Amino acid sequence: MRKKLVVGNWKMNLTRAESAACVESVLLLLDKQDQVEVAVCPPFTSLDSVQHLLRKTHVHVGAQDVFWKQSGAFTGQISANMLADLGCSYCIVGHSETRGRFGKLEIGESTVGYFAETDETVNLKIKALLYHNICPILCVGETLAEREAGETDAVIAAQLRAGLDGVDGAEYYNAVVAYEPVWAIGTGKTCDAAEAERVCGMIRGVLAEVFDEEAADNIRVLYGGSVKANNARDLFAGPNVDGGLVGGASLVAQEFAEIVRAGR
Ligand code: PGA
Repeated sequence: MRKKLVVGNWKMNLTRAESAACVESVLLLLDKQDQVEVAVCPPFTSLDSVQHLLRKTHVHVGAQDVFWKQSGAFTGQISANMLADLGCSYCIVGHSETRGRFGKLEIGESTVGYFAETDETVNLKIKALLYHNICPILCVGETLAEREAGETDAVIAAQLRAGLDGVDGAEYYNAVVAYEPVWAIGTGKTCDAAEAERVCGMIRGVLAEVFDEEAADNIRVLYGGSVKANNARDLFAGPNVDGGLVGGASLVAQEFAEIVRAGR
């Protein structure tokens, strides 16, 4: 039986003081023995302080990205080794924002030069994380143009196969995949619950082919993209949806706690 998981992705938000205030409020609102597993992914700058605040609680800490090399001349990068040292249990990989698949650019120039993550780098990151016993949260999802062209399933299957190439099912057994339709991220447009369930089921089918039935049965498949307190229960109701990856709503303690409760 898979345990539901709700992960907050804070993105590039909250200073250390704001991060501390956010986790303290969340902790007050969450039940101590929740049957839902909870993790928060603060920016790198708050990982240490948030981990310190959460170390004796049931809430896990995750990072939002990682570089696959162990150490060396890689200015600005953070290794899986460093994340393990900080006590991270999870790490997001292949988010559409780091893949450079923004639906609509908010800044004047292309972001692709800054966030050029590919299936190949996603794969390297996953292997580096597993080596350090950090659970990857592999994000997959189609753009609006891909959905309209009827390519949703093919795009996601290709992302899964390439991202998980050469990864052992036994190693990925406790890890996570998140279905995040690019057009639903930060837009307020949520994927219909029935469609989220269908795609998460399709993802599980691909996982069974890439690994085996047993691993596919154990891997948690989350939905992400404008999850809010008022739609989480519907979205998490499908048998193949094992919880959510929550962006904007995870910055508001009350909202995030309600989303966690929706996973029960
Ligand atoms: P959102 O972001 O909940 O703000 O849409 C989700 C995500 O990007 O993980």
